[in-house]
Amino acid sequence: MTGIVKIFDTSLRDGEQSPGYSMDTGEKLRMAHQLARLNVDIIEAGFPIASPGDFEAVQRIANEVSGPIICGLARANQGDIDTCWKAIRGAKKARIHTFIATSDIHLKYKLRKSREQVLEEAVQAVQHAKQYTDDVEFSAEDATRSEPEYLAQVFQAVIDAGAQTINVPDTVGYTIPSEFGKLIAFLRERVGNIHLATISVHCHNDLGLAVANSLTAIEHGARQVECTINGIGERAGNASLEEIVMTLKVRQEQLGLGTNIISEQIYPTSKLLTHITGISVQPNKAIVGANAFAHESGIHQDGLLKEEKTYSIMTPVEIGLTEHKYILGKHSGRHAFRARLKGMGFDLSEEEVDQAFKRFKELADKKKSIFEEDLEAIVTGLIRGIPEKFSLESVEVVCGTKKKPKAVVVARSEGKKIKAAEFGAGPVDAVFKALQRISKFKGNLEKYIVTAVTGGTDAQGEVMVELHENGRTVRGVGSHTDILVASAQAYVAALNRLAFVPKKISAQL
Ligand code: KIV
Ligand code: ZN
Repeated sequence: MTGIVKIFDTSLRDGEQSPGYSMDTGEKLRMAHQLARLNVDIIEAGFPIASPGDFEAVQRIANEVSGPIICGLARANQGDIDTCWKAIRGAKKARIHTFIATSDIHLKYKLRKSREQVLEEAVQAVQHAKQYTDDVEFSAEDATRSEPEYLAQVFQAVIDAGAQTINVPDTVGYTIPSEFGKLIAFLRERVGNIHLATISVHCHNDLGLAVANSLTAIEHGARQVECTINGIGERAGNASLEEIVMTLKVRQEQLGLGTNIISEQIYPTSKLLTHITGISVQPNKAIVGANAFAHESGIHQDGLLKEEKTYSIMTPVEIGLTEHKYILGKHSGRHAFRARLKGMGFDLSEEEVDQAFKRFKELADKKKSIFEEDLEAIVTGLIRGIPEKFSLESVEVVCGTKKKPKAVVVARSEGKKIKAAEFGAGPVDAVFKALQRISKFKGNLEKYIVTAVTGGTDAQGEVMVELHENGRTVRGVGSHTDILVASAQAYVAALNRLAFVPKKISAQL
C-alpha cells in the first residue's frame, strides 16, 4: 500500500476535554497556529455548542488560522450542526464532524433509541450538514462495540447521504489490533460505496493500545487518523500524533505510507502544549519525553559516539531537537566523560582524565544529577585549582529593628583592595549589593539557599548562591557559623566561577 495518511488533530477538542487540559481562547489559538506549522491536515478546533467559550475559540481559529481544514464537532441534530457551521464558516476549508453512537449499549442506556431511529438521525444529520459544506465527516461513536453488520449499514447510508469521511472510533479503548484490523477490512468489503469516502480511525488509550490499533487500521486501509499531541484526551488519552507520524516515517519501507507532517515541528508543538497546560509528559514518553534521546549507559554512549545508528532509530533533529543528551551518571563511560569535558573547553591529558574520571564516579554514586558545575569543580578544583579573581577580606553588617541594614565589604582583586558600603532591604541584600559594586557584576541572583549543616543555634550555615549573567549560570557555596559571612563567601565563589567558566553552561548534562 502507498499514499498519504491524513493527520486529524483533536488536541483542541478531545484533548482539551480531559481533566487539567482546558485552555482559553488565546491559548487554543496559539496551539492552532502551531498545529498549522506542524502541517496537520485537519484541526478539530472544538465542540461549538458546548459553551460560548468553545464557540468563540472555534470561530477565531476558523477565521485566523490558515492551512489545515478547520473542523467543528456536532452531535447528530440540527441545532448542534447549525451552531457548528456558524463557528467554522469563516475558514477557507471548513469541515462539520457529526456523530451518534451505534453500539447497543449506548442505544439502550444512553440514547434510549432503536437502531432504526439512530440510522435515520445519522442520515438526517449528514444531509443537514451537507447544506453548508461538502466536507462532512460522520462518526459512529463506540463503533468497536457496535454490531458490525449494523455499523456497515449505517456507514453505507451516511456515505449515500454525502459523508466524505467515515470515522470508526474506539471510544472506550476496548479493541485490540488484530480485531480492529479485521473490522476495517470487513467495512471495506461490506460497505458497497466505501470507495467514495475516506476511512478514519479514532482510538482511545484505555489499554495502552491506541497507537497500535491506529497503525493496524492504517495497514488495513484507513487513511485518516485522529490523534492528539502528547496523546492527551479523555481518560487515558487518544492515540499520540507524534508516535503515529514517526512510526510511519521511521518504518516507511515496511508500511509504504507517509504523512504531510513537518516532523521538525513535533517537539516545539509538544513543548508548547506542556507550557500552556502546565502538564509535562512522562520522561520516558516515546518521541517527546525528556529521556527519549538521552543516554546514560556507558556502552550506549560509546556506541552512539562511534555511530549514531547503533542505539538510535531516528535523529533528534528529525523531531526538532538539536542533539542527543549524554547523561553523565554512574553508568557513564570514560569516553563520554572525556567528550563532555572537551565540549566544556577542558583539554586534559590522559592522566588528568583518569584522575577526574575516578572522582566523577565517586561523586556519581552519591549524587542523582551531575551538573556541569560538578564537573568543573572536579576538573578545576582537583586538578588545576580555580583561579580566584576575588577574595573576601571582611564583612561588617549593621542591622536591627531601628537601623536600615548596611554592609561594608572589603575584597581583594588582582592585588588591589576594594571597599564598598551599601544599604539594602535586609542585611544579605546589603552584602550582595556591596559585592556587586566591587565586582561590577551586572547579572541576576537566581537562587539563594541557606541550610544549617549541623543542629542548634551554633550551627554551621551553608549558603548556595546561583548567579546568571550573559546566558551563563554558576553556583557558589560558602559555609560559616555567621550566615552573612557564608553568604558573602558563596557570592564571591560564584563570581570567581563566572570569571573563569570557559563556556556557556547548560542546565544539566
Ligand atoms: O471517542 C469518540 O468516540 C469521540 C467521537 C466524538 C469521535 O470522540
Ligand atoms: Zn474520542
